[in-house]
Amino acid sequence: MNDMRILERQVENNEIKISARDVQVYYGATHAIKDVAIDIRDKMVTAFIGPSGCGKSTFLRTLNRMNDTIDIARVEGRIELDGQDIYDPKVDPVQLRARVGMVFQKPNPFPKSIYDNVAYGPRIHGLARNKAELDEIVESSLRRAALWNEAKDRLLQPGTGLSGGQQQRLCIARAIATRPEVLLMDEPCSALDPIATAQVEELIDDLRSQFSVVIVTHSMQQAARVSQRTAFFHLGNLVEYGETGQIFTNPRDPRTESYISGRIG
Ligand SMILES: Nc1ncnc2c1ncn2[C@@H]1O[C@H](COP(=O)(O)OP(=O)(O)OP(=O)(O)O)[C@@H](O)[C@H]1O
Ligand SMILES: [Mg+2]
Repeated sequence: MNDMRILERQVENNEIKISARDVQVYYGATHAIKDVAIDIRDKMVTAFIGPSGCGKSTFLRTLNRMNDTIDIARVEGRIELDGQDIYDPKVDPVQLRARVGMVFQKPNPFPKSIYDNVAYGPRIHGLARNKAELDEIVESSLRRAALWNEAKDRLLQPGTGLSGGQQQRLCIARAIATRPEVLLMDEPCSALDPIATAQVEELIDDLRSQFSVVIVTHSMQQAARVSQRTAFFHLGNLVEYGETGQIFTNPRDPRTESYISGRIG
């Protein structure tokens, strides 16, 4: 192989952030994820769509080992982040989750101040050398999560005292404060009003300049607006995965077609 071709291969590989093969997830005897293979690209937003119970959240949680925290869940197969097996016993799940952050459907701020919620990750991972640097991380994370203006005068008040939509933006600020490489979002806008939803969608688009975002959503409009790649799940299978425009305008599988046209769901 000549040098040029080696270089091309590397460039190509660099674009893939997460690579999953032969992934199965079981909850006891329930086979919730069946043989899923997917390559998630860097610096893009990937949307997971599909009917309730099809396994979107379950598969999302395999990407940062959140299923480890569910006793009856068992994950098989191989998932690589930058070519490294994330289920290798040498991988520390806490370090992994700083690189692959997560925002949940239900906002879950810690019972701490707004400031301490955002500062939590940078503190435990030693990302700031002093108070001024930590202040800077807190402010920039809150700004990027579109919460700074509402929070700046009450940084020392409890995060749990914010409204639902504000709490969700706080959780986003907390997740991006550790400067993750991948951000997993499980229906992050379901508790938000249209204005906050638009702000979060804008944020997602902005975040993609730096890393990859995977978002689970029940809103086709949202998937079409924010993502460049869409994966359609059905009964634990990844039925179709491709460029978002193609999935919505010209799906190849009849199950995708039925779902996006509202016939199943
Ligand atoms: N903690 C759990 N224990 C047992 N079964 C579970 C657990 N979590 C999910 N399941 C089962 O796994 C399957 C996939 O669930 P999952 O939550 O991943 O679906 P989903 O696509 O995210 O659905 P929704 O759109 O409703 O959030 C379902 O049959 C569900 O009942
Ligand atoms: Mg779910």
